[in-house]
Amino acid sequence: MKLDRLLARHRRMGRVAARRALAAGRVRVDGVIVRDREREVDRFRAVLLDEVVVQGTEQARYLMCHKPAGWLSATSDPVHRTVLDLIDAPAREELHLVGRLDRASTGLILLTNDGRWSKAVLSAANKVPKVYLVETAEPIAQGAAEAFAAGFWFPTEQAFTLPAKLEITGDRNARVTLEEGRYHQIKRMFKRIGNRVTSLHRIRIGELDLPADLPEGAWRELTPEQVRLVTRASARFPAADTCNSSTPPNPSAPGHAACPC
Ligand code: URA
Repeated sequence: MKLDRLLARHRRMGRVAARRALAAGRVRVDGVIVRDREREVDRFRAVLLDEVVVQGTEQARYLMCHKPAGWLSATSDPVHRTVLDLIDAPAREELHLVGRLDRASTGLILLTNDGRWSKAVLSAANKVPKVYLVETAEPIAQGAAEAFAAGFWFPTEQAFTLPAKLEITGDRNARVTLEEGRYHQIKRMFKRIGNRVTSLHRIRIGELDLPADLPEGAWRELTPEQVRLVTRASARFPAADTCNSSTPPNPSAPGHAACPC
């Protein structure tokens, strides 16, 4: 939300008074005086008018989990165990999943309470790569990499898949990199070349690798640097150290890692 709008709602002070307060240098965002009424402020910014809190600091949270097979990528389900059931963190019900893995798939899955960040990770326009290790039932055909790069027409979505990278690493093994996430996408792509996926494991999102020491079913908080690694490749979601915000980068503030601008 724009800063003048947020202020205008505060005790119904209205837009005119809000803009005057901004021009007079009475407004601080994360401790820094801001005069720009157009400044976008998400709910993780602390906003003060003089010494009065207009918006407090809600902490942005970023987690990774090593999803085991058999757990559903959901926050609740009447039948199946869900990824959220694996997270024994306080206020876990405020978290949502950043994308999905099929129930049988394993590997890296992210959770957050920051909708802006999850949108940035998932938007195909941002080209955040997701890397998977795949095992197939049949030997992988010559020409499969070209087919993946050319894209497939998915009639259900009435869309072509974006170019995907297929690196054949063994007779029935490959590494696949996607920059989008359509329903059962890798399984459907292999089906189109007459093969079947028998195992699918996600090892990387953006530049963040699933840590070798994070066992199946375990989770941990992302460090600010890891939050940055996820979206670093995205031109539309710059890392904090490249953002144009006048707020000085503060790597110890979890929300800032995802850039406030
Ligand atoms: N593609 C699939 O088919 N399944 C997943 O879980 C992820 C990508």
